Amino acid sequence: MSTSAAGPWWRSAVIYQIYPRSFADGNGDGIGDIEGIRAHLDHLSGLGVDAVWLSPWYPSPMADAGYDVADYRDIDPVFGSLAEAEELIAEAHDRGIRIIVDVVPNHCSDAHPWFQAALAGGPDAPERELFWFRPGGGPGGDRPPTEWVSQFGGGTWTRTTNPDGTPGDWYLHLFAPEQPDLNWDHPRVRAEFEDILRFWLDRGVDGIRIDSAALLMKDPALPEVVDGAPSPFVDLDAVHDVYRDWRRIADGYPGDRALIGEVWLPDRERFANYLRPDELHSAFNFDFLGCAWEAAALRRCVDDTLAAHAPVGAPATWVLSNHDVTRHVTRYGRADTTFSFATKREGVPTDLELGTVRARAAALLTLALPGAVYVYQGEELGLWEVEDIPTELRQDPMWGRSGHGRDGCRVPLPWSADAPPFGFSPDDAVRAPWLPQPAEWKDRTVRAQTGDPYSMLELYRAAIGIRRAEPGLGDGEMRWLAAPDGVLGFARGAGFACLVNLGGAPVPLPPHEARLLASGPLEGDLLPPDTAVWLRTAEDPAAGPTSAG
Ligand code: NOJ
Ligand code: CA
Repeated sequence: MSTSAAGPWWRSAVIYQIYPRSFADGNGDGIGDIEGIRAHLDHLSGLGVDAVWLSPWYPSPMADAGYDVADYRDIDPVFGSLAEAEELIAEAHDRGIRIIVDVVPNHCSDAHPWFQAALAGGPDAPERELFWFRPGGGPGGDRPPTEWVSQFGGGTWTRTTNPDGTPGDWYLHLFAPEQPDLNWDHPRVRAEFEDILRFWLDRGVDGIRIDSAALLMKDPALPEVVDGAPSPFVDLDAVHDVYRDWRRIADGYPGDRALIGEVWLPDRERFANYLRPDELHSAFNFDFLGCAWEAAALRRCVDDTLAAHAPVGAPATWVLSNHDVTRHVTRYGRADTTFSFATKREGVPTDLELGTVRARAAALLTLALPGAVYVYQGEELGLWEVEDIPTELRQDPMWGRSGHGRDGCRVPLPWSADAPPFGFSPDDAVRAPWLPQPAEWKDRTVRAQTGDPYSMLELYRAAIGIRRAEPGLGDGEMRWLAAPDGVLGFARGAGFACLVNLGGAPVPLPPHEARLLASGPLEGDLLPPDTAVWLRTAEDPAAGPTSAG
């Protein structure tokens, strides 16, 4: 588990995202938990992943599935206990799997003791300084301080009631009202989170995923959002001081502890600023996640990604799905294969068979690109977005506020058996899974796919296995190869090439010594549309222009 010649682990890792509610339920209450994760570590070892990122597991009223944290130093009883978390960390380490926990610094839960004290203490409570409390506008203060729009839709301010029952000040929440934003200008907030980082680093975690990392600082003048003007709450320069402090803390620990930012920013240079050598180690590449399944767009995205990362010396990351976005099997089966929250819709017609074929090719593409790769639980099973969840069962706060939700990518995993709960919960479970699983997932269980050479699961196992053994993969350089229109071809290291056909017709394979792995059947020496192949080549195949990186 130490740094290898190829550099620290986070530069090349395959990182598996566990969404604890939906991974595996050990105690039969229909909700995933730590017991369930510990019981399925074999799945992670068998897949060959280097690390696991766990979405929040802290005590929480679950207004936003745990991204509303009431206590950053404990585990919610629905997931287990701190002792179990410590055992999980140790057991994962025994298997050579690193652990990344999710820290949510932009906001806490409205049940957090600080916020409760801020409410109970009335307008003069010192805890109000830890948040963004402001008087309302207009006569009687009944208008919110600004017209900002919440990331979940609706406004960003909620009015409080004073302890004497009179209408009081408003507080800021960029997300749900149950997620009050913290005031990062306050030294107590900074000190508290530094201590929280140490709490988890002391427990041996290898990385911290930082939620909403670009949103922490606010312009205290609270101006309105104006097109073309700097945002009053996205990507303020002062946020970088926070991460410089955090980097010093992470660097003070033995081993390679990584800070990984959730940074959604359209400007790649501003994005790369978070990855300067004294700030975060890594961040999610959402441009790639949102990119169309189209050769020219993907190539541009890869080039732009590598060009943005090169000056700061950070590795790129490649992400196809996570717990917030439409699963890519569904996206890639639609006429419009891009993703953005602004255009996110449910029920758009999709061809799941086509989406699956493309998702298989996308797996080989991402696992061959330079840098680290994220795998969202269930993508290795080829799960699709569940878009017919009855309204009354929906849990995501986004659903009521914006007309679309994220429950469809959070449906509990199918492990075994022919009918729900598909081994997600034990046979004697007292409750059904917290979201209903489609009956069609009987063919997508881990058990059904194991040993089937054509399954998504065996493709991921094979690809990650080759990636581990192949010195040219992971961090490093890539070279574009000359390829027909609509085809992406690139070489890694000495003697490895990846080809992806995004065009409409089969294309001939370039000269090669052996086929290592293909995402689908080849037609003789032809690579069919929406298919990718990994080839063993002579050391110096015909090179096209070299990519930055
Ligand atoms: C990003 C997380 O990924 C998402 O699930 C959450 O709702 C928001 N941040 C707010 O914490
Ligand atoms: Ca449970």
